[in-house]
Amino acid sequence: MSEATDDPIELWINSLSEEEVLELEKRGSSRCCEVRKSSIHGSGVFASCDIEDGELLFEYIGQRIDKEDSDARAWSQIDRAKESGEASVLIFTLNDEVDIDGRIPWNLARYINHCCEPNAQAWIEDVDLPDGSEEERIYIYATKAIAKGSEIGFNYGFDLENWSDHPCLCGKPTCVGYIAGEEYWDELKEKIATNHS
Ligand SMILES: C[S@@+](CC[C@H](N)C(=O)[O-])C[C@H]1O[C@@H](n2cnc3c(N)ncnc32)[C@H](O)[C@@H]1O
Ligand SMILES: [Zn+2]
Repeated sequence: MSEATDDPIELWINSLSEEEVLELEKRGSSRCCEVRKSSIHGSGVFASCDIEDGELLFEYIGQRIDKEDSDARAWSQIDRAKESGEASVLIFTLNDEVDIDGRIPWNLARYINHCCEPNAQAWIEDVDLPDGSEEERIYIYATKAIAKGSEIGFNYGFDLENWSDHPCLCGKPTCVGYIAGEEYWDELKEKIATNHS
């Protein structure tokens, strides 16, 4: 008998029907990307064939949760990550009310590492549902042509809160040394130069 869990994402996964799992699997999969060991960190996503500039790679799938739930999960994920060394928070902001917890096995996008010279970007798009309503979803697109074998990376867009906790190992010549959105780079460089956190 399997052990009972109190992890909300596992409870949600266990509640899914076979049909819902198949749909998620389809939405999270990719024509041309695979997960492999990365020199940046842990696992990463790599092009398994040549990808064209502008091509849709896959959707960032997961459970849609409100901000209160999101905050609670973020803190428990941070604690879990400290113990296990696994990737920390996999929650993506969708809008002012809803976040997406991407800690599900069919979410290939959860393995994308941050890169200071990204070749991909996340976009939020409205999707028409069969019942006539609309839903916002997150899609990852290539922002340049990507050669087979290259690692896919996007900019996580972090602000400068706790910037020194997130050193960047992307290895690109223009790497700013820490994971941060490009709009914060000037301020970040000043902080690094004066060593203020
Ligand atoms: C969404 S996960 C990416 C997948 C991760 N490599 C894994 O194996 O699960 C985000 C985590 O990967 C690590 N990471 C991603 N990009 C990084 C980078 N450029 N430099 C250092 N660590 C990075 C950080 O630990 C971050 O919390
Ligand atoms: Zn970098």
